[in-house]
Formats: sequence, C-alpha cells, structure tokens
Amino acid sequence: RDIYGAVRANPPGRDYGVLAVRDHARTVGERFSGPVVAAPIIGGALRPGAGAVPVTNPANRNDRVGSVSAATPADIDDAVARAHRAQPDWDRLGGIGRGRILRAMGDGLEAATDRFVALLAREAGKTLNDGVAEVREAVDFCRYYADLAERTFDAPTILPGPVGELNQLELHGRGVFLCISPWNFPLAIFTGQVAAALAAGNAVLAKPAEQTPLVAAEAVRLFHDAGLPGDVLALLPGDGATVGAALVAHAGIDGVAFTGGTETAWTINRSLAARRGPIVPFIAETGGLNGMFVDTTALREQVVDDVLVSAFGSAGQRCSALRLLFLPAPSADAIIATLVGALEAMVIGDPADAATDVGPVIDADACAMLAAHVERLQRDARILYRHPVPAHLSGSFFGPVIAEVPAPDFLESEVFGPILHIYRYDPRDLDAIASRLAQRGYGLTLGIHSRIDAFAAHVRALVPAGNAYVNRTITGAVVGVQPFGGEGLSGTGPKAGGPHALLRYAVERSLSVNI
Ligand code: NAD
Ligand code: ALA
Repeated sequence: RDIYGAVRANPPGRDYGVLAVRDHARTVGERFSGPVVAAPIIGGALRPGAGAVPVTNPANRNDRVGSVSAATPADIDDAVARAHRAQPDWDRLGGIGRGRILRAMGDGLEAATDRFVALLAREAGKTLNDGVAEVREAVDFCRYYADLAERTFDAPTILPGPVGELNQLELHGRGVFLCISPWNFPLAIFTGQVAAALAAGNAVLAKPAEQTPLVAAEAVRLFHDAGLPGDVLALLPGDGATVGAALVAHAGIDGVAFTGGTETAWTINRSLAARRGPIVPFIAETGGLNGMFVDTTALREQVVDDVLVSAFGSAGQRCSALRLLFLPAPSADAIIATLVGALEAMVIGDPADAATDVGPVIDADACAMLAAHVERLQRDARILYRHPVPAHLSGSFFGPVIAEVPAPDFLESEVFGPILHIYRYDPRDLDAIASRLAQRGYGLTLGIHSRIDAFAAHVRALVPAGNAYVNRTITGAVVGVQPFGGEGLSGTGPKAGGPHALLRYAVERSLSVNI
C-alpha cells in the first residue's frame, strides 16, 4: 500500500534463471539487433540534426548499435518555442488527464521489456538482471508520478480564513522543464525525470547522456505513442558541453532537473546563476562517497553477500554503490578472506549472457580513469585482489578490485566503477573515523551491518545520508518504497520516487475569494 492507502504492485519483471524466459529474450534481442537511430525529436517527428556519430557496444568494439545526430541551435530554439505554446493546454489537462497518459506510457514500457533489456545490454552494457530492474523502475516512475498527479494537482488544498472568504492553494506546472540525464540509468532516470516534470504540468526538453541516446530515443517514441502531444516532449541529443550548455543558458527554460556528476552540477549551477531573468529551480542529484560500517556482531556471510552486490553490481556504476567498507579490526581478516573468495567466483563477461555477474564499464575513458586510480592504489594503498578480465573479451572491461586504504578519508571524491576500498578500524576510534568520512561533504547512501540497534543509530547520526540501509545492500532503491536522493555534495532533493517528488517541478498559486 502507498502513503495514500492505495494498493500498488511493481511490475513482475523476468526470471532469467528460467531457460524459456532466456530464450524468448534472446529472440527479441536478435530481432532488435539492427542499427537504431537517435536524432532530435521535435513535434513528435525525427529531425536530421547535425552529424551522425556511431554508438558502439561497450562490451564489443565491433558491434555498432546505431548512430546519433546532435540537436542544432535552430532545433533547440524551435523545441523551446513549441514547448511554450503547448504547455498551458498540458497543464489545463489536469492531474487525471496527465496521469492517464503516464499510465499508458508505463504499460507501453512494460510491454516492451524484452526490447529495452536487449538495447540496455548493447548500448549501456547492462546485464540482463540490471536491464530488467531498470525497465521495472521506469514503469514504476510512470505509475507513481501518475498517482501523485491525480491525487495532488486536481483538488486544491482548502485553507482556513475569515467567514465569507474562500482560500485555496493550487499546484501548476512551471512552464518548460529541461531534464538532463546520465548514462548509467539511461532508461529509468531518463524516464523518471521526464515523467515527474510532465506529471506536474510542464512541457519537457530532454537531453540524454551522449553515451546512451538510443534508449532515450526509444523511450520518447513510446511517450508519444502513449498519447503525449508531440510538442510537450522533445528529445535534444548531443554533448553536455555544447547542446547541454546551450539548453541550460536558454532564456526559455523555466526549471532544470539534472542527474550526473557533482562537477557538472556546479557548472550548470554557475550558468543558471549568470542568467538574467526569472530565477529557475535547479534539481540536482549527483555522486556519492558511500560508506558501509560493519561491527563485530555482524553476520559475515551476509556482509559479504551485500558488499558484493553493493560494490560490484552494475560494475560499480551506480551513484548508490559502495565505495568504502569500514571493517572492525577483530573481524577484518575473516571478512576479507570470504569476500576475496566470493569475488574470485564472479563471472565477468558479455552482459547479454545470463551467466554474467559483471559487465563492461561504459567506455574507454572510464577504463582509463579507473586504471589511473589503480596506479594510485598501487602507490599509496594495498591491492588485496584484482579480478582478471578474460582474454576473449574485446570491449571496455575492467576487472573488479579490492584495496585496503591507509586513511578513512583516502578518497576525496567518487571513483565510479568496480573498485572497493576497505578501511580497517579500531572500534574505539569509530566516531573520529565516521566524522572524517562525513567531512568530505557527500550524503547519498550509507550501509550499516550490526545486530545492535544503538550502533546503527549512532553511525547514522555521525554520517549524513539521504538513503541509509541496515543489514542489507545499499543499492536498488524501489520507487515509493525507498525514495531516493542525496544531500550536501550528493544532491538537492526532492527525492525521486517519493511523495514530495513533484513539488519542485510545480508552482504554488494561492487564491482568495470574497464570497
Ligand atoms: P555527467 O555529469 O558527466 O553527465 C550527466 C549529464 O550532464 C549528461 O547528459 C551530460 O551530457 C550532461 N552535461 C555535461 N556537461 C554539461 C553542461 N556543461 N551543461 C549541461 N549538461 C551537461 O555524469 P555521467 O558520467 O553521465 O553520470 C555518472 C554520474 O552521475 C556519477 O557521478 C553518478 O554518481 C551520478 N548519478 C547520480 C545519481 C543520483 O540519483 N544521485 C544517479 C545516477 C548517476
Ligand atoms: N536508485 C538507484 C539505486 O538505488 C541509483 O541504486
């Protein structure tokens, strides 16, 4: 049941352990192996854009998945003008009318699960299980925001006042919202941002990550097939530094929702601050320096299970992923030995193969960044294990690494990939160590493994985090169950998939009538 008491079911997903399900998915994947085109989509129609850059499979350099053409300055101006003309009608449609279209989008996505899982594997290197989880999350976002729109946008809040006066508060769309998304959740975060902005009554300009425009283009086509008027949603692909920056600086933008790195959020924030004209809201969800604190009462096997998923699932390419594991000195050796043994057994390989645990990282730049970090670890820390990459793989694969670091604040910022840092602590120093992590200023996810409630409460008070998890994994927040988002350097809120998610996408207007 949700906060309003309505019964809501998450989509069932797929069980790839079942041979028939795997075979069916493979058949759909093969049918979907032709090239996919991404280009600006404006007024519901594909535009030529500029250039045609190939999009390749991160798991196989020779597999050309499709091509992308960037939005031109004229495309951007046209999309902004059309969005402004279309937005008032979309706002007037009300929460129930908009919710109907978002629900149709959720149904369309659910029906296209296999198709998206196949494309997520080829364009973004997602394993089958990650792909299906991502489609389910995208479906959840559509249905959850439809629900919020239906419940909160059509019935104004009636406020008190003197006899003879009616006072009420209404919610409306702000105008034209710019949604800028990252490559690591090319469907779920892309769809989540767009669905939230639409639910609140905005027209949307969507700028997908340059690495993953194809999934985004498919999603925009589905939105339009679901009945969304063409001018209410445009896709404007291209590089962040050119197309992204031009959109942020455009005078016609009434709000920006961004998910990506903290550095990029600072750049966008500076650009918005330099604009003359209306002051627009900036929703930013960024990176994390996520720690997990284990005490001597924790169950070793459970810790190891949860650490493997949290640090190496999705090849460590989740903002929520575990970066720093704090082990108490008395238990550290036993946990490390089990962890290394379990990591050795993990399979690195083609994400489209059901046996694969860890797929590729997104591209050669990511491999180079991680390799440079491993050089630092070799110099200044101690590498405990590095998983070999099978020789037959030809893509951007990076063998997972476990390293022991000499200080709790060894990492200044997020290292985005399958590298787990362990710090061995003396339980008497817990407060000082946790405070040093907190002083880095991030605040996304936090893990605690202990059978003592007071330990969990104590660590939680020392390390601010938008999402804290006790005795479980720290990744995989579920819409409506674990509203997701950080604080400090990790984000502004409101939380995605939470009951307040739509408020910053909306304006509040009060009405007082002398009756
Ligand atoms: P990124 O910051 O490099 O890019 C994100 C988006 O911003 C892309 O669409 C990019 O083209 C665009 N962009 C880049 N420069 C821009 C500019 N000057 N103006 C406008 N747009 C610009 O991030 P990424 O590498 O795509 O994604 C990985 C990062 O995202 C990690 O740091 C991860 O932690 C973070 N992330 C955060 C969350 C969260 O919910 N907190 C979720 C997923 C990913
Ligand atoms: N929402 C995603 C997670 O929780 C990033 O892993």
